[in-house]
Amino acid sequence: MSVTFTLTLTFTNHFPVSLIDPLFSIGFVRKAIWKLWYPFLTRRLQQEEVLFLNYAFETDPHVGLPLSPADEPNRACIQLYHHVASQVDLRGRKVLEVSCGHGGGASFLTRTMQPAHYTGLDLNRTGVEFCQRRHPLEGLDFVEGDAQRLMFADHTFDVVLNVEASHCYPDFPRFLAEVARVLRSGGHFLYADFRFSEGLADWEKALAAAPLQLVQTRVINAEVLRGMERNSERSEALLVRYLPKFLQKLGRDFAGIRGSRIYAALQRGEVSYRSYCFVKV
Ligand SMILES: C[S@@+](CC[C@H](N)C(=O)[O-])C[C@H]1O[C@@H](n2cnc3c(N)ncnc32)[C@H](O)[C@@H]1O
Repeated sequence: MSVTFTLTLTFTNHFPVSLIDPLFSIGFVRKAIWKLWYPFLTRRLQQEEVLFLNYAFETDPHVGLPLSPADEPNRACIQLYHHVASQVDLRGRKVLEVSCGHGGGASFLTRTMQPAHYTGLDLNRTGVEFCQRRHPLEGLDFVEGDAQRLMFADHTFDVVLNVEASHCYPDFPRFLAEVARVLRSGGHFLYADFRFSEGLADWEKALAAAPLQLVQTRVINAEVLRGMERNSERSEALLVRYLPKFLQKLGRDFAGIRGSRIYAALQRGEVSYRSYCFVKV
């Protein structure tokens, strides 16, 4: 059975230990911490079949997305992928997902949206190896790589997808330049992530300066909060099982469990979670 566990680290923005903030403001230190953290997470959780690492998404009323029984436990996280990816038709398209995590979204989209080919890329080598074992599907492959230095030739992809990961990148404008470089003309960048209020101006400035044209955007705080609620019980059970007691409060924040600080910040609007569709002209 697949189990969803949403565990996003947002040290820079709401981690209460004062030492972490200055450390995270140094790009290469931030990258090094993620590089250690996510493989650690994969090793701890892989026997639980944790296929998604996002905060999830749920509309009111429900969209009624039809899912197989095997996908049903991951419904709320799948709904985030579906919300982002269904902004364009993926059928017959060559898709790159940057920061695919444990590959649950890559697998779901490959199985249900018939892309010509789907590549999942992530910095976490242990996670990529997990994906290769767990999602052996025709037309789907996984590679280790850095969002800021994509190893593909110019104009390779019809679609680049990126879900809840860009807050980890030390140089976000460089990532956007890489997205634009590997997209063919007319290709789409489908994107979702969040920023705390203090990071909003830089985020918007970078997106406006990117060589991509905005097609649509939406603030999805309410949907993400519902997704967090839906996953809270299961995430809490996993936290209790895998984290020592003294780390569990922190774990609740990372996992976005109901009542956690990230949950409250989203509710108060101190965090903006958005989805986007851009086209390369
Ligand atoms: C919160 S997880 C989201 C994973 C996946 N998109 C999902 O929704 O389940 C963030 C992911 O970003 C990846 N990541 C962090 N920094 C990266 C980088 N510089 N290049 C590529 N991936 C990176 C992490 O390894 C992790 O898998």
